[in-house]
Amino acid sequence: MQKLEVFGANKLKGQIKISGSKNASLPILAATLLSSKKITLKNLPKVRDIETMLTLLKSLGSKVKFEKKKTIIDNSKQNKKFASYNLVKTMRAGILVLGPLLAKYGSAKVSLPGGCAIGTRPVDIHLKALSKLGVKYRIDQGYVIANAPKGLIGNKIRFSKVSVGATENLIIAASFAKGTTILSNCAIEPEIKDLVNFLNEMGCNIKWISSRAIKIIGVTELKEISYSIMFDRIEAGTYLIAAAVTEGNLKISNIIPEIIKTEIKVLKKLGSKIIIRKNELEIVGTKKIKSMKIKTAPYPGFPTDLQAQIMVLLCKANKMSIIQEEIFENRFMHVAELNRMGAKILTQGNKAIVEGNINFAPAELMATDLRASVSLILAALTAKGKSVINRIYHLDRGYENIEKKLNKVGAKIKRVY
Ligand code: UD1
Repeated sequence: MQKLEVFGANKLKGQIKISGSKNASLPILAATLLSSKKITLKNLPKVRDIETMLTLLKSLGSKVKFEKKKTIIDNSKQNKKFASYNLVKTMRAGILVLGPLLAKYGSAKVSLPGGCAIGTRPVDIHLKALSKLGVKYRIDQGYVIANAPKGLIGNKIRFSKVSVGATENLIIAASFAKGTTILSNCAIEPEIKDLVNFLNEMGCNIKWISSRAIKIIGVTELKEISYSIMFDRIEAGTYLIAAAVTEGNLKISNIIPEIIKTEIKVLKKLGSKIIIRKNELEIVGTKKIKSMKIKTAPYPGFPTDLQAQIMVLLCKANKMSIIQEEIFENRFMHVAELNRMGAKILTQGNKAIVEGNINFAPAELMATDLRASVSLILAALTAKGKSVINRIYHLDRGYENIEKKLNKVGAKIKRVY
Protein backbone atom coordinates (compact mmCIF):
# COMPACT_ATOMS: atom_id res chain seq x y z
CA MET A 1 0.00 0.00 0.00
CA GLN A 2 1.33 3.42 -0.94
CA LYS A 3 2.42 5.85 1.72
CA LEU A 4 3.92 9.31 1.93
CA GLU A 5 7.13 10.19 3.70
CA VAL A 6 7.15 13.82 4.73
CA PHE A 7 10.43 15.42 5.81
CA GLY A 8 9.84 18.63 7.81
CA ALA A 9 10.29 21.40 8.51
CA ASN A 10 10.58 23.71 5.52
CA LYS A 11 8.92 27.03 4.87
CA LEU A 12 6.93 26.89 1.64
CA LYS A 13 7.67 29.53 -0.96
CA GLY A 14 6.53 29.92 -4.55
CA GLN A 15 3.39 29.51 -6.61
CA ILE A 16 0.75 26.79 -6.62
CA LYS A 17 -1.74 26.54 -9.46
CA ILE A 18 -5.12 25.30 -8.27
CA SER A 19 -6.85 22.49 -10.19
CA GLY A 20 -10.47 22.18 -11.23
CA SER A 21 -13.00 21.48 -8.51
CA LYS A 22 -13.68 17.84 -7.67
CA ASN A 23 -16.99 18.70 -6.03
CA ALA A 24 -18.17 20.73 -9.04
CA SER A 25 -17.01 18.10 -11.54
CA LEU A 26 -18.91 15.24 -9.88
CA PRO A 27 -22.46 16.62 -10.26
CA ILE A 28 -21.62 18.05 -13.68
CA LEU A 29 -20.45 14.62 -14.86
CA ALA A 30 -23.65 13.08 -13.47
CA ALA A 31 -25.70 15.76 -15.23
CA THR A 32 -24.17 14.88 -18.61
CA LEU A 33 -26.42 11.80 -18.48
CA LEU A 34 -29.35 14.05 -19.37
CA SER A 35 -27.89 14.86 -22.77
CA SER A 36 -27.41 12.82 -25.91
CA LYS A 37 -25.17 15.52 -27.43
CA LYS A 38 -21.42 15.76 -27.19
CA ILE A 39 -20.15 17.52 -24.04
CA THR A 40 -16.58 18.78 -23.74
CA LEU A 41 -15.32 19.44 -20.23
CA LYS A 42 -12.19 21.39 -19.41
CA ASN A 43 -10.38 21.66 -16.08
CA LEU A 44 -11.53 18.28 -14.69
CA PRO A 45 -9.07 17.42 -11.91
CA LYS A 46 -7.06 14.22 -12.20
CA VAL A 47 -8.15 12.62 -8.94
CA ARG A 48 -9.52 9.21 -8.00
CA ASP A 49 -13.13 10.35 -7.37
CA ILE A 50 -13.33 11.72 -10.91
CA GLU A 51 -11.91 8.48 -12.32
CA THR A 52 -14.54 6.60 -10.32
CA MET A 53 -17.33 8.81 -11.65
CA LEU A 54 -16.08 8.35 -15.22
CA THR A 55 -15.98 4.58 -14.69
CA LEU A 56 -19.53 4.78 -13.33
CA LEU A 57 -20.64 6.72 -16.41
CA LYS A 58 -18.96 4.16 -18.68
CA SER A 59 -20.72 1.34 -16.83
CA LEU A 60 -23.97 3.16 -17.68
CA GLY A 61 -23.06 3.18 -21.37
CA SER A 62 -21.39 6.62 -21.72
CA LYS A 63 -18.44 7.03 -24.06
CA VAL A 64 -15.55 8.98 -22.55
CA LYS A 65 -12.61 10.32 -24.56
CA PHE A 66 -9.60 12.37 -23.51
CA GLU A 67 -8.09 14.94 -25.86
CA LYS A 68 -5.18 16.97 -24.53
CA LYS A 69 -6.69 18.80 -21.55
CA LYS A 70 -10.29 18.06 -22.50
CA THR A 71 -12.65 15.26 -21.53
CA ILE A 72 -15.35 14.49 -24.06
CA ILE A 73 -18.51 12.73 -22.96
CA ASP A 74 -20.79 11.21 -25.55
CA ASN A 75 -24.05 9.85 -24.18
CA SER A 76 -25.77 9.34 -27.54
CA LYS A 77 -25.73 5.58 -26.95
CA GLN A 78 -25.99 5.66 -23.15
CA ASN A 79 -28.63 3.05 -22.31
CA LYS A 80 -28.19 1.56 -18.81
CA LYS A 81 -29.81 2.64 -15.56
CA PHE A 82 -28.09 0.44 -13.01
CA ALA A 83 -25.30 1.85 -10.80
CA SER A 84 -23.55 -0.97 -8.99
CA TYR A 85 -22.37 -1.10 -5.39
CA ASN A 86 -18.78 -1.66 -6.54
CA LEU A 87 -18.66 1.79 -8.10
CA VAL A 88 -20.79 3.76 -5.66
CA LYS A 89 -19.32 2.32 -2.45
CA THR A 90 -16.12 4.36 -2.51
CA MET A 91 -17.76 7.62 -3.37
CA ARG A 92 -20.91 9.12 -1.95
CA ALA A 93 -21.41 11.30 -5.02
CA GLY A 94 -22.38 8.15 -6.96
CA ILE A 95 -25.94 8.77 -5.74
CA LEU A 96 -25.96 11.84 -8.04
CA VAL A 97 -26.68 9.61 -11.05
CA LEU A 98 -30.08 8.75 -9.55
CA GLY A 99 -31.71 12.09 -10.44
CA PRO A 100 -30.61 12.18 -14.09
CA LEU A 101 -31.36 8.47 -14.71
CA LEU A 102 -34.89 8.91 -13.32
CA ALA A 103 -35.38 12.05 -15.38
CA LYS A 104 -34.24 10.29 -18.53
CA TYR A 105 -35.75 6.81 -18.15
CA GLY A 106 -38.40 7.06 -15.42
CA SER A 107 -36.68 4.26 -13.52
CA ALA A 108 -33.26 3.41 -12.06
CA LYS A 109 -31.48 1.13 -9.63
CA VAL A 110 -28.62 2.81 -7.79
CA SER A 111 -26.55 1.48 -4.91
CA LEU A 112 -26.69 3.35 -1.63
CA PRO A 113 -23.39 5.22 -1.32
CA GLY A 114 -20.28 4.77 0.77
CA GLY A 115 -17.75 7.62 0.95
CA CYS A 116 -15.71 9.05 3.80
CA ALA A 117 -16.22 7.56 7.26
CA ILE A 118 -17.26 10.90 8.70
CA GLY A 119 -20.80 10.17 9.72
CA THR A 120 -23.81 8.11 8.76
CA ARG A 121 -24.44 10.27 5.67
CA PRO A 122 -27.90 9.11 4.70
CA VAL A 123 -29.67 10.01 1.43
CA ASP A 124 -33.16 10.44 2.89
CA ILE A 125 -33.34 14.10 1.82
CA HIS A 126 -32.55 13.16 -1.81
CA LEU A 127 -35.20 10.43 -1.81
CA LYS A 128 -37.92 12.43 -0.08
CA ALA A 129 -37.46 15.30 -2.52
CA LEU A 130 -37.43 12.98 -5.55
CA SER A 131 -40.68 11.42 -4.34
CA LYS A 132 -42.24 14.90 -4.55
CA LEU A 133 -41.42 14.82 -8.28
CA GLY A 134 -43.49 11.62 -8.60
CA VAL A 135 -40.82 9.00 -7.84
CA LYS A 136 -41.77 5.81 -5.99
CA TYR A 137 -38.89 3.96 -4.40
CA ARG A 138 -37.93 1.12 -2.14
CA ILE A 139 -34.62 0.07 -0.64
CA ASP A 140 -33.68 -3.51 -1.37
CA GLN A 141 -30.36 -5.14 -0.44
CA GLY A 142 -28.49 -1.85 -0.35
CA TYR A 143 -30.00 -0.52 -3.56
CA VAL A 144 -32.48 2.25 -4.21
CA ILE A 145 -34.97 0.88 -6.70
CA ALA A 146 -36.92 3.82 -8.03
CA ASN A 147 -39.43 4.54 -10.75
CA ALA A 148 -41.66 7.35 -11.82
CA PRO A 149 -44.67 5.74 -13.49
CA LYS A 150 -45.86 9.04 -15.02
CA GLY A 151 -42.39 10.53 -15.52
CA LEU A 152 -41.03 13.30 -13.30
CA ILE A 153 -43.49 16.09 -12.65
CA GLY A 154 -42.44 19.52 -11.34
CA ASN A 155 -43.43 20.50 -7.82
CA LYS A 156 -42.64 22.86 -4.95
CA ILE A 157 -40.06 21.32 -2.65
CA ARG A 158 -38.57 22.70 0.53
CA PHE A 159 -35.53 20.77 1.76
CA SER A 160 -35.80 19.99 5.49
CA LYS A 161 -32.05 20.63 5.86
CA VAL A 162 -29.46 22.26 3.63
CA SER A 163 -27.83 19.45 1.64
CA VAL A 164 -25.33 19.94 -1.16
CA GLY A 165 -25.93 16.54 -2.79
CA ALA A 166 -29.73 16.62 -2.49
CA THR A 167 -29.86 20.12 -4.00
CA GLU A 168 -27.70 18.93 -6.91
CA ASN A 169 -29.66 15.72 -7.50
CA LEU A 170 -32.94 17.64 -7.56
CA ILE A 171 -31.69 20.45 -9.79
CA ILE A 172 -30.55 17.87 -12.34
CA ALA A 173 -33.73 15.77 -12.14
CA ALA A 174 -36.10 18.76 -12.24
CA SER A 175 -34.32 20.15 -15.31
CA PHE A 176 -35.91 17.35 -17.30
CA ALA A 177 -39.21 17.08 -15.36
CA LYS A 178 -42.56 18.14 -16.84
CA GLY A 179 -43.48 21.67 -15.77
CA THR A 180 -42.03 23.92 -13.11
CA THR A 181 -40.16 23.03 -9.93
CA ILE A 182 -39.36 25.44 -7.13
CA LEU A 183 -36.65 24.28 -4.73
CA SER A 184 -36.19 26.16 -1.48
CA ASN A 185 -33.76 25.95 1.44
CA CYS A 186 -31.17 24.95 -1.17
CA ALA A 187 -27.47 24.64 -0.59
CA ILE A 188 -25.71 27.53 -2.34
CA GLU A 189 -22.16 26.22 -2.49
CA PRO A 190 -20.24 27.69 -5.46
CA GLU A 191 -20.13 24.17 -6.95
CA ILE A 192 -23.94 24.25 -7.15
CA LYS A 193 -23.79 27.58 -8.96
CA ASP A 194 -21.29 25.98 -11.36
CA LEU A 195 -23.69 23.07 -11.97
CA VAL A 196 -26.53 25.52 -12.67
CA ASN A 197 -24.34 27.51 -15.09
CA PHE A 198 -23.39 24.27 -16.85
CA LEU A 199 -27.01 23.10 -17.15
CA ASN A 200 -28.20 26.51 -18.38
CA GLU A 201 -25.46 26.58 -21.02
CA MET A 202 -26.67 23.16 -22.17
CA GLY A 203 -30.16 24.62 -22.64
CA CYS A 204 -31.84 24.06 -19.25
CA ASN A 205 -34.01 26.76 -17.72
CA ILE A 206 -32.91 27.38 -14.13
CA LYS A 207 -33.12 30.68 -12.26
CA TRP A 208 -32.18 31.69 -8.73
CA ILE A 209 -35.29 33.44 -7.41
CA SER A 210 -33.94 34.25 -3.96
CA SER A 211 -30.75 33.53 -2.07
CA ARG A 212 -31.70 29.90 -1.34
CA ALA A 213 -34.51 29.24 -3.85
CA ILE A 214 -34.40 28.11 -7.47
CA LYS A 215 -37.03 27.95 -10.17
CA ILE A 216 -36.56 25.23 -12.77
CA ILE A 217 -38.69 24.88 -15.89
CA GLY A 218 -38.28 21.43 -17.39
CA VAL A 219 -36.89 21.14 -20.92
CA THR A 220 -36.69 18.25 -23.39
CA GLU A 221 -33.88 19.30 -25.72
CA LEU A 222 -30.26 20.02 -24.90
CA LYS A 223 -27.36 21.21 -27.01
CA GLU A 224 -23.72 20.33 -27.55
CA ILE A 225 -21.44 22.41 -25.32
CA SER A 226 -17.94 22.95 -24.08
CA TYR A 227 -17.62 23.94 -20.41
CA SER A 228 -14.76 24.79 -18.10
CA ILE A 229 -15.13 23.64 -14.47
CA MET A 230 -14.52 26.14 -11.64
CA PHE A 231 -11.41 26.00 -9.42
CA ASP A 232 -11.22 23.77 -6.35
CA ARG A 233 -11.83 26.11 -3.41
CA ILE A 234 -10.97 23.42 -0.85
CA GLU A 235 -7.63 22.74 -2.54
CA ALA A 236 -6.99 26.51 -2.55
CA GLY A 237 -7.89 26.76 1.15
CA THR A 238 -5.66 23.79 1.98
CA TYR A 239 -2.60 25.41 0.35
CA LEU A 240 -3.35 28.76 1.97
CA ILE A 241 -3.26 26.98 5.32
CA ALA A 242 -0.06 25.15 4.26
CA ALA A 243 1.60 28.53 3.78
CA ALA A 244 0.26 29.85 7.09
CA VAL A 245 1.30 26.81 9.09
CA THR A 246 4.86 26.70 7.69
CA GLU A 247 5.25 30.50 8.01
CA GLY A 248 5.79 30.46 4.27
CA ASN A 249 4.94 32.71 1.38
CA LEU A 250 2.76 31.27 -1.37
CA LYS A 251 0.97 32.59 -4.42
CA ILE A 252 -2.22 30.61 -4.93
CA SER A 253 -3.28 31.10 -8.53
CA ASN A 254 -6.04 30.14 -10.96
CA ILE A 255 -8.76 31.07 -8.48
CA ILE A 256 -11.52 33.62 -7.88
CA PRO A 257 -10.70 35.21 -4.48
CA GLU A 258 -14.31 36.43 -3.99
CA ILE A 259 -15.50 32.80 -3.71
CA ILE A 260 -13.24 32.09 -0.72
CA LYS A 261 -13.69 35.35 1.16
CA THR A 262 -14.71 33.58 4.41
CA GLU A 263 -11.47 31.59 4.40
CA ILE A 264 -9.45 34.74 3.63
CA LYS A 265 -11.13 36.56 6.53
CA VAL A 266 -10.39 33.72 8.95
CA LEU A 267 -6.74 33.44 7.89
CA LYS A 268 -6.29 37.20 8.21
CA LYS A 269 -7.83 37.13 11.70
CA LEU A 270 -5.41 34.36 12.62
CA GLY A 271 -2.54 36.63 11.66
CA SER A 272 -1.57 35.83 8.05
CA LYS A 273 -1.02 38.63 5.61
CA ILE A 274 -3.01 38.12 2.41
CA ILE A 275 -2.72 40.15 -0.77
CA ILE A 276 -5.69 39.78 -3.09
CA ARG A 277 -5.09 39.98 -6.84
CA LYS A 278 -7.39 39.25 -9.78
CA ASN A 279 -7.05 35.48 -10.05
CA GLU A 280 -4.50 35.00 -7.33
CA LEU A 281 -3.86 35.36 -3.62
CA GLU A 282 -0.51 35.83 -2.01
CA ILE A 283 -0.23 34.72 1.58
CA VAL A 284 2.57 35.45 4.00
CA GLY A 285 2.48 33.32 7.13
CA THR A 286 3.55 34.49 10.56
CA LYS A 287 4.92 32.98 13.75
CA LYS A 288 2.34 34.89 15.77
CA ILE A 289 -0.89 33.01 15.16
CA LYS A 290 -3.95 34.15 17.08
CA SER A 291 -6.54 31.87 18.63
CA MET A 292 -10.13 31.76 17.43
CA LYS A 293 -13.52 30.11 17.73
CA ILE A 294 -14.51 28.59 14.39
CA LYS A 295 -17.83 27.00 13.51
CA THR A 296 -18.30 25.09 10.27
CA ALA A 297 -21.46 25.93 8.31
CA PRO A 298 -22.98 25.59 4.83
CA TYR A 299 -21.63 28.13 2.32
CA PRO A 300 -20.95 31.01 2.77
CA GLY A 301 -19.85 29.80 6.23
CA PHE A 302 -16.51 28.19 7.01
CA PRO A 303 -16.35 24.86 5.09
CA THR A 304 -16.36 21.56 6.95
CA ASP A 305 -13.94 20.37 4.27
CA LEU A 306 -11.29 22.72 5.72
CA GLN A 307 -11.98 21.95 9.38
CA ALA A 308 -9.17 19.40 9.79
CA GLN A 309 -6.66 21.68 8.05
CA ILE A 310 -7.50 24.80 10.09
CA MET A 311 -7.22 22.72 13.27
CA VAL A 312 -3.52 22.19 12.49
CA LEU A 313 -3.02 25.94 12.26
CA LEU A 314 -4.94 26.54 15.51
CA CYS A 315 -2.55 24.15 17.28
CA LYS A 316 0.08 26.82 16.62
CA ALA A 317 -2.00 29.73 17.98
CA ASN A 318 -0.88 31.70 21.02
CA LYS A 319 -3.88 30.50 23.08
CA MET A 320 -6.62 27.88 23.17
CA SER A 321 -9.10 27.76 20.26
CA ILE A 322 -12.43 26.06 19.77
CA ILE A 323 -13.76 24.37 16.64
CA GLN A 324 -17.41 23.49 16.38
CA GLU A 325 -18.30 20.98 13.63
CA GLU A 326 -21.86 21.64 12.54
CA ILE A 327 -22.15 19.56 9.36
CA PHE A 328 -20.94 16.01 10.10
CA GLU A 329 -21.30 14.28 13.44
CA ASN A 330 -18.10 12.27 13.31
CA ARG A 331 -15.55 14.47 11.66
CA PHE A 332 -12.79 14.53 14.26
CA MET A 333 -10.94 11.37 13.27
CA HIS A 334 -7.77 13.37 12.58
CA VAL A 335 -7.69 14.47 16.24
CA ALA A 336 -6.24 11.21 17.55
CA GLU A 337 -3.50 11.27 14.91
CA LEU A 338 -2.67 14.95 15.51
CA ASN A 339 -2.47 14.22 19.25
CA ARG A 340 0.03 11.46 18.47
CA MET A 341 2.17 14.21 16.93
CA GLY A 342 2.05 16.23 20.13
CA ALA A 343 -1.14 18.23 19.68
CA LYS A 344 -3.39 18.73 22.69
CA ILE A 345 -6.90 18.54 21.35
CA LEU A 346 -9.87 17.42 23.38
CA THR A 347 -13.20 16.63 21.75
CA GLN A 348 -16.56 17.03 23.45
CA GLY A 349 -19.43 16.08 21.16
CA ASN A 350 -19.15 18.29 18.10
CA LYS A 351 -16.60 20.61 19.76
CA ALA A 352 -12.84 20.38 19.69
CA ILE A 353 -10.85 22.32 22.23
CA VAL A 354 -7.49 23.00 20.66
CA GLU A 355 -4.57 24.00 22.84
CA GLY A 356 -2.09 26.38 21.23
CA ASN A 357 1.71 26.75 21.15
CA ILE A 358 2.23 23.19 19.85
CA ASN A 359 5.37 22.07 18.06
CA PHE A 360 4.42 18.97 16.13
CA ALA A 361 6.73 15.97 16.39
CA PRO A 362 7.14 13.57 13.48
CA ALA A 363 5.31 10.24 13.67
CA GLU A 364 3.98 7.32 11.66
CA LEU A 365 0.36 8.16 10.92
CA MET A 366 -2.83 6.73 9.48
CA ALA A 367 -5.06 8.70 7.13
CA THR A 368 -8.75 8.16 7.86
CA ASP A 369 -10.59 10.29 5.32
CA LEU A 370 -9.83 12.69 2.51
CA ARG A 371 -9.48 15.96 4.43
CA ALA A 372 -8.05 14.28 7.55
CA SER A 373 -5.22 12.92 5.39
CA VAL A 374 -4.23 16.33 4.19
CA SER A 375 -4.29 17.76 7.73
CA LEU A 376 -1.66 15.15 8.65
CA ILE A 377 0.53 16.33 5.78
CA LEU A 378 0.18 19.92 7.01
CA ALA A 379 1.21 18.95 10.53
CA ALA A 380 4.07 16.80 9.20
CA LEU A 381 5.35 19.74 7.11
CA THR A 382 6.00 21.61 10.36
CA ALA A 383 7.48 18.65 12.31
CA LYS A 384 11.29 18.42 12.22
CA GLY A 385 12.17 14.96 10.88
CA LYS A 386 10.41 12.19 8.98
CA SER A 387 6.70 11.45 9.27
CA VAL A 388 5.07 8.58 7.41
CA ILE A 389 1.45 8.79 6.34
CA ASN A 390 -0.28 5.49 5.58
CA ARG A 391 -3.53 4.81 3.68
CA ILE A 392 -3.07 7.74 1.35
CA TYR A 393 -5.65 6.37 -1.08
CA HIS A 394 -8.01 8.69 0.81
CA LEU A 395 -5.83 11.64 -0.19
CA ASP A 396 -5.70 10.60 -3.83
CA ARG A 397 -9.50 10.78 -4.01
CA GLY A 398 -9.39 14.56 -3.98
CA TYR A 399 -5.96 16.18 -4.34
CA GLU A 400 -4.30 16.33 -7.76
CA ASN A 401 -0.51 15.82 -7.69
CA ILE A 402 -0.30 16.94 -4.09
CA GLU A 403 3.30 15.95 -3.43
CA LYS A 404 4.42 17.39 -6.77
CA LYS A 405 2.70 20.70 -6.05
CA LEU A 406 4.11 20.91 -2.51
CA ASN A 407 7.61 19.78 -3.46
CA LYS A 408 7.74 22.50 -6.11
CA VAL A 409 7.38 25.12 -3.36
CA GLY A 410 9.93 23.67 -0.98
CA ALA A 411 8.36 20.66 0.75
CA LYS A 412 10.12 17.31 0.87
CA ILE A 413 7.57 14.58 0.34
CA LYS A 414 8.23 11.15 -1.14
CA ARG A 415 5.65 8.62 -2.27
CA VAL A 416 6.70 5.12 -1.31
CA TYR A 417 5.23 2.22 -3.27
C1 UD1 B 1 -20.89 17.57 -0.06
C2 UD1 B 1 -19.43 17.53 -0.45
C3 UD1 B 1 -18.56 17.29 0.79
C4 UD1 B 1 -18.88 18.34 1.86
C5 UD1 B 1 -20.37 18.41 2.12
C6 UD1 B 1 -20.75 19.55 3.05
C7 UD1 B 1 -19.42 16.67 -2.69
C8 UD1 B 1 -19.13 15.54 -3.60
N1 UD1 B 1 -19.22 16.46 -1.39
O1 UD1 B 1 -21.23 16.30 0.47
O2 UD1 B 1 -17.20 17.37 0.41
O3 UD1 B 1 -18.22 18.00 3.05
O4 UD1 B 1 -21.09 18.60 0.90
O5 UD1 B 1 -20.30 20.74 2.55
O6 UD1 B 1 -19.78 17.76 -3.13
N2 UD1 B 1 -27.73 14.58 5.08
C9 UD1 B 1 -28.81 13.85 5.52
N3 UD1 B 1 -29.61 13.27 4.56
C10 UD1 B 1 -29.38 13.41 3.22
C11 UD1 B 1 -28.27 14.18 2.80
C12 UD1 B 1 -27.46 14.75 3.76
O7 UD1 B 1 -29.06 13.70 6.70
O8 UD1 B 1 -30.15 12.88 2.41
C13 UD1 B 1 -26.84 15.21 6.10
C14 UD1 B 1 -25.41 14.67 6.03
O9 UD1 B 1 -25.24 13.49 6.76
C15 UD1 B 1 -24.63 15.84 6.60
C16 UD1 B 1 -25.40 17.06 6.12
O10 UD1 B 1 -26.72 16.58 5.80
O11 UD1 B 1 -24.66 15.79 7.99
C17 UD1 B 1 -24.84 17.76 4.90
O12 UD1 B 1 -24.60 16.80 3.89
P1 UD1 B 1 -24.56 17.21 2.35
O13 UD1 B 1 -24.57 18.70 2.24
O14 UD1 B 1 -25.63 16.46 1.64
O15 UD1 B 1 -23.15 16.68 1.93
P2 UD1 B 1 -22.74 15.86 0.63
O16 UD1 B 1 -23.51 16.33 -0.54
O17 UD1 B 1 -22.71 14.43 0.94
